[in-house]
Amino acid sequence: MGKRTQVAIIGSGPAGLLLGQLLHRAGIDTIIVERRSRDYILGRIRAGVLEQGTVALIDEAGCGERLHREGLIHTGIDLAFAGERHRIDFANLTGGKGVTIYGQTEVTRDLMDARLAADAPTIYEAERVWPADFDCSKPVLHYLHEGTERRIACDFIAGCDGFHGVSRASVSEDKITVFERAYPFGWLGLLADVPPVSDELVYVNHERGFALCSMRSRTRSRYYLQCHASERPEDWPDETFWAELRRRLDEATAARLTTGAAIEKSVAPLRSFVAEPMRFGRLLLAGDAAHIVPPTGAKGLNLAASDVHYLSQALIDHYRTGSEKGLETYSARALARVWKAERFSWWMTSLLHRFPDTGPFGRRMQLAELDYLVGSRAAMTALAENYVGLPY
Ligand code: APR
Ligand code: PHB
Repeated sequence: MGKRTQVAIIGSGPAGLLLGQLLHRAGIDTIIVERRSRDYILGRIRAGVLEQGTVALIDEAGCGERLHREGLIHTGIDLAFAGERHRIDFANLTGGKGVTIYGQTEVTRDLMDARLAADAPTIYEAERVWPADFDCSKPVLHYLHEGTERRIACDFIAGCDGFHGVSRASVSEDKITVFERAYPFGWLGLLADVPPVSDELVYVNHERGFALCSMRSRTRSRYYLQCHASERPEDWPDETFWAELRRRLDEATAARLTTGAAIEKSVAPLRSFVAEPMRFGRLLLAGDAAHIVPPTGAKGLNLAASDVHYLSQALIDHYRTGSEKGLETYSARALARVWKAERFSWWMTSLLHRFPDTGPFGRRMQLAELDYLVGSRAAMTALAENYVGLPY
């Protein structure tokens, strides 16, 4: 005897949790099936730059209270190159827009707490999760839990299970087209309880490689160094990390750097990836299950949010009015925004990282583009309106 729900959601990350919360508030039943434990998920360190649309959606989900209390509003970033820092003034260039700095782990925690309070079910540590029969109107989500095979009969399955999930993998290859670019480097990230080196984020183009100075709060900093994709955190003792970061920073910024013991250190590969379409009958993909961006533009979480904005609307319309229009246009609407964020993330990555194979000419092209960018209101406006988030 199995369970029954209206929308079965695979994955308890930001996409699955935000979708679950928005549907719950519209009176639609969901069950989330997640392969990891709650603690494992909350142990993940991920970027925390929220576009205003993402903040609005978290508010719509009724989960914005701590975000507004603890989040930091930033109205610009610095680009650093050739020993100089240049501020991109988002507020001035976009009619007052900015971004909110609030760790993705905190977003996930707030959404998990809301789901618990709503008494909406999440099945953690599920194994062998498998979506089936989504080509007809009665899909079934199969999974193993505590050694017992279980099934959930549902109307729709939302594949919110990330890049390595099962949803995309369960679609026959002839029905899906993927577009991919792997970058020849990774990001070595370090988290430390030290005050940030600057009030806003600093993106550095340096001949030794890219660096990023970010933060989680006024007392917790997040730094990244471009490294070879094959490097491992253990190759970088804290002191080695700090010394390399200092080399890539301009003198004044390096002098202000407060160092301390790493509480987390990891290497992440950089990849651009899009799967088309995002709907397969009654299976709909959202978030990293459908697309991946290099973290340079801080778009990963924000694209998961815009997918969920379109998908939740489509499902609510279906249940409220019987209209299929939102479901029929979901993939095209979501992908239109995904591709613009893919372009922006690829562009920021191409502009700021060291690409050995493009040689001295390629390096000069980067420096010329950066020099042009910081001297042109039009060019800075283009960066600013993409960074704060294009309209849904
Ligand atoms: N069955 C059930 N759950 C699964 C499976 C599976 N086969 N495979 C993966 N999952 C779970 C993962 O454990 C994870 O909790 O799906 C969830 C996917 O969450 P994310 O990877 O965070 O993806 P998403 O919710 O789309 O959020 C995208 O997260 O990874 C970052 O940079 C990314 O900021 C972006 C955001
Ligand atoms: C982060 O704080 O982890 C972060 C910020 C901005 C990015 C990427 C990561 O572009």
